Amino acid sequence: MPSSSLAAPLDVTLRPDRPATLDVDPPDDVPRWAAECREALRAQVAEHGALLVRGLGLRDADQVGAAFARLAGGSGLMAEREAFAPREAHAEGLYSSTAWPANQPMCMHHELSYRLEVPGLMLFACLTAPGQGGATAVADAEQVLRALPTGLTERFEREGWLLTRSYNDEIGASLAESFGTDDRAEIERYCRAHAIDFTWRPDGSLRTEQRRSAVVRHPLTGRRCWFNQIAFLNEWTLAPEVREYLVDEYGEDGLPFNTRYGDGSPIGEDVVQVLNGTYEEHTRREPWQAGDLLLVDNIRTAHSREPYTGDRQVLVGMAEPRRPADDCPAVEASER
Ligand SMILES: [Fe+2]
Repeated sequence: MPSSSLAAPLDVTLRPDRPATLDVDPPDDVPRWAAECREALRAQVAEHGALLVRGLGLRDADQVGAAFARLAGGSGLMAEREAFAPREAHAEGLYSSTAWPANQPMCMHHELSYRLEVPGLMLFACLTAPGQGGATAVADAEQVLRALPTGLTERFEREGWLLTRSYNDEIGASLAESFGTDDRAEIERYCRAHAIDFTWRPDGSLRTEQRRSAVVRHPLTGRRCWFNQIAFLNEWTLAPEVREYLVDEYGEDGLPFNTRYGDGSPIGEDVVQVLNGTYEEHTRREPWQAGDLLLVDNIRTAHSREPYTGDRQVLVGMAEPRRPADDCPAVEASER
């Protein structure tokens, strides 16, 4: 049975397997509605980790951009850096969802968790709902941390995790898409400033490695969250035929992206299965309807994109920049 939150001024519906949902009547002026409701909406996101707003009737990129800008608050919408796959930019800080094969899932992850500065708030707007599937599902990172085997989380908490990236001209984001430039000196400056180790290979391609905390404290609640992309960006999450192709083409050490333990050891397939399986047990999903808005606390809540058929247009914004590693001195985000 649906139940409503008593604590809140907004009448939010809570169901066990779905994100908290707020049904509204379509306002005349969506950006003004967003500005007026921002504080109340943000309080709901803080309480529930994510909030789906249904009934707004979001219809085009201009309107979504204006609403996102109001919802982003004082620091505005963030420009994306270090993307692992390309997005189309509709306006400053307003992006398409990541280009990713429709029949492959984007497993649970926290956006840009491998950066020093991450978005604290994710904004999603659905302009076209897919025929089947394609939900942006969510999972609570506090619950996931508690549910994972203690030995595993303790190791990652102690060592952190490594993201390795190898740039090529065919798969994944280009240098310009990731760093905002393809100028070598500027890329090197960016890497030094953001605690990324880098190597230029003899063929001129770039390989990078960065170590980050796998468990962080939430900046508002202080509670510990499983916050990383260890599973999603690991080779064992890829479809077997895709992994095989990439290893054949680029070699074990040349995959466009891969993850490791903080000490550099490879992560076994069994561990990646445990991580993705635990996410699945904590997944809440609601199929998109055109016009929907979804707000996600990016540190408290992981999100995914499920496989789909048909057309799907979901716009994305990032806001409230945070530096979660500053609260986790145990793993220094630095050169090893
Ligand atoms: Fe994402």
